[in-house]
Amino acid sequence: MMKNNVRYVALTILDDVLNGEAYSNLQLNEAIKNEAVTQKDIGLLTELVYGTLQRKITLEYLIEPFIQTKLKGWMKRLLIMSAYQFVYLDKVPNHAIINEAVNIAKARGDLHNSKAINAILRNFISSPLRSLDEIKHDDKRLSIEGSVPLWLTKHWITHFGYEKTKEMCLLSLTPPDTTVRVNTTRITVQEAVERLESNGYTVKMDKDIERCLHIKGEPIVNDRLFKDGLISIQDKSSMFVGEILNVKKGSTVLDTCSAPGGKTCHIAEMLDQTGQVDAFDIHPHKIDLIDFNVKKLRLNNVSTSVHDATKPFDKTYDYILVDAPCSGFGVMRRKPEIKYDKTTKDVEALWHLQVEILENASKSLAPGGELVYSTCTIEQMENENVVYSFLKANDDFEFAPFIDPRTNEETKTLQLLPQDYNSDGFFITKIKRKER
Ligand SMILES: C[S@@+](CC[C@H](N)C(=O)[O-])C[C@H]1O[C@@H](n2cnc3c(N)ncnc32)[C@H](O)[C@@H]1O
Repeated sequence: MMKNNVRYVALTILDDVLNGEAYSNLQLNEAIKNEAVTQKDIGLLTELVYGTLQRKITLEYLIEPFIQTKLKGWMKRLLIMSAYQFVYLDKVPNHAIINEAVNIAKARGDLHNSKAINAILRNFISSPLRSLDEIKHDDKRLSIEGSVPLWLTKHWITHFGYEKTKEMCLLSLTPPDTTVRVNTTRITVQEAVERLESNGYTVKMDKDIERCLHIKGEPIVNDRLFKDGLISIQDKSSMFVGEILNVKKGSTVLDTCSAPGGKTCHIAEMLDQTGQVDAFDIHPHKIDLIDFNVKKLRLNNVSTSVHDATKPFDKTYDYILVDAPCSGFGVMRRKPEIKYDKTTKDVEALWHLQVEILENASKSLAPGGELVYSTCTIEQMENENVVYSFLKANDDFEFAPFIDPRTNEETKTLQLLPQDYNSDGFFITKIKRKER
């Protein structure tokens, strides 16, 4: 009976994600696809999983004074998930929060555990909420308020300063804007706006990117335009990657790390059924995702294949995109577990891989050709350090400056933070191979 209970399913997902065995977005998609909960509970399931993950450190701080004994991992997770409902959701009555948690604890097999859960939650719910003001140090308070590990909070404060870090961490607890990219090979931006509006959406055109629309309304995945491949969901920051690569019609393009294909399709749309995009990824199962998108959007200028981007490519290209594997801190609002998982060791290992991929890919760039290196992270090591190391070792390449959309001034590198456009954090730089 418990099996399809929304809180029971949410806890199972939290167990898997916080034990490092799964990604929140994939687990949620899987649960929805397998009808693990009823249609009407999908919203609550998503809220419970993302909300608890997003605010994990804050919730642990709030509930900690009420835990007197050593608890099993799943019990702690059940407690923070219950605390999340009490603190952040309006519509769940307190007795329901407690009863549901106690029933889950019983279903997991132990009366003793369920009694402990009951006592802790009753005590927590009937006491005043612990204040953050008792935390003296700014960095520690921000770490708890923003639910970002202390080492990472301190690290970002060193790079971006306290105010920017605070803005970024707190904004990352809220949902980003929903933006879509219009498939201009099949519909004009104006037509897309009109059709979306007539389907009940509030639509705003973006001031920087013509094919980018800001949407408010029902989930856009259910809309006809999305299902028919006339629009794709893509974050505004991520769209800047294709816009800055700015391919000319008829060109050849190499996309080295391309799954699931968001930027491949953006570039192919810009080519408007001319030229050729060769899209590669190291993971065979992810190639299907690119193929699915290319087919749905009806793009006829993309070929896909498995390839390790550290190994030579066998052609030269007018343009190259290296959208490198990275720590992903820029997308922590969509994949909150990233905040808790990644370490400085990961960042260092990624730097090596990124430099290796960039070195190798650059060999396939034609003289005068342009290459964009991008990541969805805000780590200087994986961003500026990669490109400056590369340029130091390769004097036949140089920066190809472009316009920073925030200032309208020329720049060599662009580090977008979530607060710049209420979107993801992204790094973008462009280099070119000197003419011979
Ligand atoms: C940031 S994601 C790319 C996102 C993609 N460009 C998009 O817009 O949809 C990085 C990708 O690099 C792939 N990858 C990781 N190591 C790789 C390697 N050595 N060679 C090629 N691809 C790799 C991953 O499988 C992942 O799909």
